[in-house]
Amino acid sequence: MHINGKTIWIVGASQGIGLRLVESLLKDQCRIIASSRNAEQSPELIQLKQTYPDTLRLINCDVGQKDSLPPIIEQAWSFFNGIDIWLYNVGSYQPMSISDWEIEKFEQMNQSNYLGAVYLMHGLWPKFEQQGFGEWVWNVSLASDFGLPYGGGYSAPKAALMNLAESLHPELLEHNIQLKVVNHGFVKTRLTAKNDFPMLGLMSAQDAADRIVTALQQNRFETRFPFNLGAVLSILKRLPKSWSLLLTKKMLRKPNHD
Ligand SMILES: NC(=O)c1ccc[n+]([C@@H]2O[C@H](COP(=O)([O-])OP(=O)(O)OC[C@H]3O[C@@H](n4cnc5c(N)ncnc54)[C@H](OP(=O)(O)O)[C@@H]3O)[C@@H](O)[C@H]2O)c1
Repeated sequence: MHINGKTIWIVGASQGIGLRLVESLLKDQCRIIASSRNAEQSPELIQLKQTYPDTLRLINCDVGQKDSLPPIIEQAWSFFNGIDIWLYNVGSYQPMSISDWEIEKFEQMNQSNYLGAVYLMHGLWPKFEQQGFGEWVWNVSLASDFGLPYGGGYSAPKAALMNLAESLHPELLEHNIQLKVVNHGFVKTRLTAKNDFPMLGLMSAQDAADRIVTALQQNRFETRFPFNLGAVLSILKRLPKSWSLLLTKKMLRKPNHD
């Protein structure tokens, strides 16, 4: 599929990978609706709007505020009279050990990494059904493959999103809607700035955005990258659990006796 001229709603568009996606897709002559909690106030998006006044629209959207979403969906749909591709790119991340677990942070990760996509899907479905075609692309994560120490608050809702995508794909295809997932690894953004360990295969946000743009044009349910981290997690997922858990036990921090 060629994406030139397509209308794409990117939710999670003001920072990191999402912002790079907006820039790249505008250069590819797409019409972009860019959303995040503060999209209309984002200096980068405002500047892009000056360069692309006819093909970029900004609309604030907090996916954690379920009741606020129906009018936002209406407006996003009406900007260019329909949407070809809905790209869900929202995510939040807070590593936590069991002894410093913050329930509010966990709830927030459930909203942004899973429930927000479900709320938007619920509002968008009747519109896509009536339109009779479309593509839904969910940025999940390689973290959905296997729960790693301290990362479960992030990866558990991502695994739920992945499972939901598998469940919905056949049914959506019957309605000419293609659901795709992108499972990628570590990208240098404010999310990974919270990590204090070496990140295998760490890539730039532009690199990740370029590969997601390619995924939009391919007829594939799952796009995974980079290969090395993808292979490690895929092996962890397929090994007998007792073996995988012996390996992930080695990732625990050493107790601090100071
Ligand atoms: N970075 C990585 O290593 C990595 C790895 C695998 C997968 N991913 C996934 O890639 C996606 C993008 O991540 P990123 O690293 O680019 O993160 P980021 O720089 O923090 O960007 C996240 C985007 O989501 C928006 N957002 C956050 N909470 C929101 C909410 N409640 N409602 C609406 N928008 C919200 C943010 O804008 P506002 O703050 O203005 O709302 C921002 O535009 C996420 O789904 C993430 O899980 C990232």
